[in-house]
Amino acid sequence: MTRFALLPGDGIGREVTVEVEKVLAFFVRHGLPFKWKKYDFCADAWLDTGSILSDETFSELKDFDAIFLGAFGDPRIPDSRHAREVVLRLRFDLDLYVNLRPIKLLADNLTALKGRKRADIDFIIVRENTEGVYVGSGGFLRKGTPHEVACQEAIATRMGVDRILRYAFHLAEKRDSHRLVMADKHNALKYVSDLWFRAFEEIAPSWESVQARHLFVDNLCCQLILDPSAFDVIVTGNLFGDIVSDLGAGLVGGLGVVPSANLNPETGIGVFEPAHGSAPDIAGKGIANPVAALLSAAMMLDFAGFPDEAESLKGAVEEVIAAGQTTRDLGGELGTSEVGDAVIRYLEKLAP
Ligand code: IPM
Ligand code: MG
Repeated sequence: MTRFALLPGDGIGREVTVEVEKVLAFFVRHGLPFKWKKYDFCADAWLDTGSILSDETFSELKDFDAIFLGAFGDPRIPDSRHAREVVLRLRFDLDLYVNLRPIKLLADNLTALKGRKRADIDFIIVRENTEGVYVGSGGFLRKGTPHEVACQEAIATRMGVDRILRYAFHLAEKRDSHRLVMADKHNALKYVSDLWFRAFEEIAPSWESVQARHLFVDNLCCQLILDPSAFDVIVTGNLFGDIVSDLGAGLVGGLGVVPSANLNPETGIGVFEPAHGSAPDIAGKGIANPVAALLSAAMMLDFAGFPDEAESLKGAVEEVIAAGQTTRDLGGELGTSEVGDAVIRYLEKLAP
């Protein structure tokens, strides 16, 4: 039996998770040994009790084969503290140091880039997920006064940088083009990025089959727009990875189509989540795009040892998009659950 934990969260996270459940149910009807448990904690719990993810639930989550997360964020909690308590706690306390964000153009018409075709945009961002400015080190001095001081420190450890670089090189070796770019900002950030650059220079020569190069992250943003086809694996730090992955999403139709995986390859724990947030402005209207969630579910199936099912799900999502059966953000007219239903219909067609 393969057990999944589903954490729908807030806003559209709840709506897209329903579509993931439909897909899991489809596979169960076709004989797959899937079970899942839904954990319904969300912003309401935090507002009621001041806590959202209890230690008990947290340790329960570790026992699942994989975790799917919808989205956390609620306008009633403007500093998103509850979201950090769930999303960042999972990443940090489970040491999910790899954040994978595949940026793939699924249909020519989805990119805003003139003249670009499907084959031109297919790269993957390997974002370091447990260090950088996200460690939460810093503080305020004289908060709320005109003399306020705020400080936020970025942390890089040699172990942390080495392990994400090794993961990215290994991935580049497995992918067709064997190309890798490491992006940092060592011309300005002379400590953290310096460590990244030195680690990269030391590691790169031992991966002879990988064509590796370095770009400053600002230049990377420019090059990604000018020629996205030049990229395959991009490895970078936590904050740069966060920013570059949204830029990547913008190249392929927006956040509604970009999935992600947070992994620890050594412990085998994985949390899969669409790259979009809870989108309170469209929540509850049934119009959220479920594609990113469904593709995240495909990554989850692959990770849990079901590569064929993952491929069928990806294939079905691509067919649905090619047929224009999409939500409005992609130019279609369907609602969230209609897109999910269309995906199931394609899966039925593919099923033996
Ligand atoms: C993401 C999000 C998160 C991040 C937020 C919600 C903390 O933007 O997953 O990309 O910054 O990592
Ligand atoms: Mg982000």
